[in-house]
Parts: sequence; structure tokens; C-alpha cells
Amino acid sequence: MALFDSKDPRQDLVGSDAATRALSVAAVENDFVEGVYDKLATVYDVVFGPTLHPGRVEAIARMSIAPDTRVLEVGVGTGINLALYPRDAQITGIDFSASMLEKARERMWKKELGNVRLLQMDAADLKFPDNSFDIVYAPYLISVVPDPVQVAQEMRRVCRSGGRIIFLNHFQSPNFLLSKIERLISPLTIHIGFKSDLDLPAFLAQAELKPVSIEKVNVPRIWSLVTCIKH
Ligand SMILES: C[S@@+](CC[C@H](N)C(=O)[O-])C[C@H]1O[C@@H](n2cnc3c(N)ncnc32)[C@H](O)[C@@H]1O
Repeated sequence: MALFDSKDPRQDLVGSDAATRALSVAAVENDFVEGVYDKLATVYDVVFGPTLHPGRVEAIARMSIAPDTRVLEVGVGTGINLALYPRDAQITGIDFSASMLEKARERMWKKELGNVRLLQMDAADLKFPDNSFDIVYAPYLISVVPDPVQVAQEMRRVCRSGGRIIFLNHFQSPNFLLSKIERLISPLTIHIGFKSDLDLPAFLAQAELKPVSIEKVNVPRIWSLVTCIKH
């Protein structure tokens, strides 16, 4: 599948200022985001469960995770993905919200997921040595964090050479009108946990990541599954 839709895709979408332009009009701090998710924990699975689930299922299916693969899920939340991973893979989930992690722990016990460990940690400051994981996956996280580039750099650091760094997220639309609306509402959407206008080409350029595939998921298909390899 083509990475981008247009003729000279990277150039059209990336733009000459991709390495320097702001990724979003909305600025958030960790304390603010943590507060939002601590409040959302009890309703998260109802509000963000079914609508975003096809993307979660497709993403993990596409990973074709082999036995003993070491997977890090960054921003594991209530653990809604945990039962989707193969039981013979080693799954580590991190999140900084104690309330979200509590839900994830309940889920882990209920579903008897012996292959999972959960840790409280900031995605921008991962407490793992370099090259610790085969797959480092951030489902619906990167538009939530204050500094997406710092998080991507941390994800890259803890991923082994040749391993995969994967983002599942909504990014700013390439459509002119939609992108304007997303910019306009982004300072509001941060109150329900995400920036609606994260600029994908600028993010990739600033994080120095080159995707090997970008696929649209969910309905409507406005979320992207972005897969990168660590070289
Ligand atoms: C939209 S939820 C995604 C949850 C889950 N991955 C999913 O598929 O639904 C985002 C999660 O990221 C967590 N989060 C946000 N910023 C974080 C950070 N800097 N470090 C760790 N977790 C963070 C939030 O607490 C929340 O649980």
C-alpha cells in the first residue's frame, strides 16, 4: 500500500517547514493529561472502546507477533488491548495514570494474562535500557502527550535495531477544510484527552522516523496505523 495518497506524496504532505513547524496548536502538560485520564478511567472503555476497537484489532493482527516477541505498549490505559496480543508473547504495558493502570490490572487478573506486566511510567522518560523490545507500540497515545517527538525518541531508544515502532492514532487531515476544523477544536479536544490536529508529516520529520507503511483504520477511516523500522 502506498504511504501517501498524492503523486509526489512525501513532498506534498511534508512541506518544506516540516522539520520546524508546530505539531499542534494545543499545548498540554503532563499534570493536565494525567488529571484528564484519572477522571476518564471509569468511563474510558465505554466512550473510547467500541469506536476505536477495529483499529486496535487490525493493528495487532498486522503485527503478526511471533512467539516470545517482546512488546512494549506505551500508554496501555485500561488494558483494552491486552487480551488481543498472543499469549506466547511477552507484553509490557506502561502508563502514568494510576487510575487507568488500576483498570488494566483488574483486566489482567480477570483474563488471567500471565504474559503481561504493567508499570507506572512516563512515556517521555522510559525506565528501560536501550534495545529492550522487538515492538514498541503506541495505540492512541501520541496525540495525547505534551511532547510527541520526545516520546517517539524514547520509543526508538528502547526498540532493538530492526524492531518496529508503531503508532495508531488520529492525525490532522490532509483535507484543507477538515484540517482547519481540527486546528480550531484542538484546544477543546484536549479536555477529553487528545489533540485533534497532530501533524503527521511534521511529527515524522522531527522524530526522524521513516515509515514503511501508513494504513487507514477504523470507520470513518481517519485514524492511521504508522509502522516504522528502527535502523
Ligand atoms: C487514549 S488512551 C489510550 C489507551 C489504550 N492504549 C487504547 O488503545 O485505548 C491514552 C493513555 O495514555 C496515557 N498517557 C498519556 N500521556 C502519557 C505519558 N506521558 N506517559 C504515560 N502514559 C501516558 C493516558 O493515561 C491514557 O491511559
